[in-house]
Amino acid sequence: MTFRARHLLGIEHLAPDEIRAVLDLADRYVDLNRRTVKSSDVLAGLTQINMFFENSTRTQASFELAGKRLGADVMNMSVAQSSVKKGETLIDTAMTLNAMHPDLLVVRHPNSGAVNLLAQKVDCAVLNAGDGRHEHPTQALLDALTIRRAKGRIQRLTVAICGDIAHSRVARSNLILLGKMENRIRLVAPPTLMLTGVQDFGCELYDDMAAGLKDADVVMMLRLQRERMDGGFIPSEREYYHRFGLDADKLAHAKPDAIVMHPGPMNRGVEIDGTLADDINRSVIQEQVEMGVAVRMACMDLLARNLRAARGRRIVETTL
Ligand code: NCD
Repeated sequence: MTFRARHLLGIEHLAPDEIRAVLDLADRYVDLNRRTVKSSDVLAGLTQINMFFENSTRTQASFELAGKRLGADVMNMSVAQSSVKKGETLIDTAMTLNAMHPDLLVVRHPNSGAVNLLAQKVDCAVLNAGDGRHEHPTQALLDALTIRRAKGRIQRLTVAICGDIAHSRVARSNLILLGKMENRIRLVAPPTLMLTGVQDFGCELYDDMAAGLKDADVVMMLRLQRERMDGGFIPSEREYYHRFGLDADKLAHAKPDAIVMHPGPMNRGVEIDGTLADDINRSVIQEQVEMGVAVRMACMDLLARNLRAARGRRIVETTL
């Protein structure tokens, strides 16, 4: 099988053929999700626990829906009411849940690296639903699927990722994925919001939207992540919108058929013009949400196959 991973912690651990395997399977789940009857028994008998230590609308809802459509028993742990609030450490919480024998653990955490640490302590497959500024692998995969369906390929495209790159795990995972698939990547941001050490990723850096968007096939906007800022990174939202907010005039520098993306949640009038975000001829923001469910179904399906195979091997080894 092409998909070998035990956990989905980051795009950095996936090979191009594994990325393709996820996208191909997700394409099939898009078809299933468009039917009236959407159920399947691929994860029947398995337990999925969603643990979100940070706010989420799209990611949590789509992981829950994905698990339910595949027949898993899905539990959403409400962290706000859990013992985490009483001072329990992440590892202790994880060990407690591990004792309940989950098969799939979906985790979002404000600290970069927290999900990787947790994966070392549990017996099930762990999916990173976003850890600090580090990675958000299912977001990059759903973005790749959206791009592939709109453009017919996921190679040799010019992709401009614009806005608050410094604080964005979405940017980081996309950068790695699009780089692995041999695309030309441009990062467009004010110097205060640019990622450091980004030269290693082999992308082009701009602090001007007109130059950065020139002839781009894909324009990916990012939210200003105020919760990760501890000071004045921008002069004002008005000034930021004027220079870096995407509107029809700035988009005119990209290719005439360029698509507009945003992972959500969107700040209309801050990083993107509301009318443009709703323009179904340019914006694929709703498609991204739709692809999110299918990609998460594909990831959990593939990880569950590997989990079953590994457990099967262990049983054979202990009985021999
Ligand atoms: C992103 C996230 O949480 O990293 N949202 C998402 O998952 N769709 C981006 C963001 O919060 O701006």
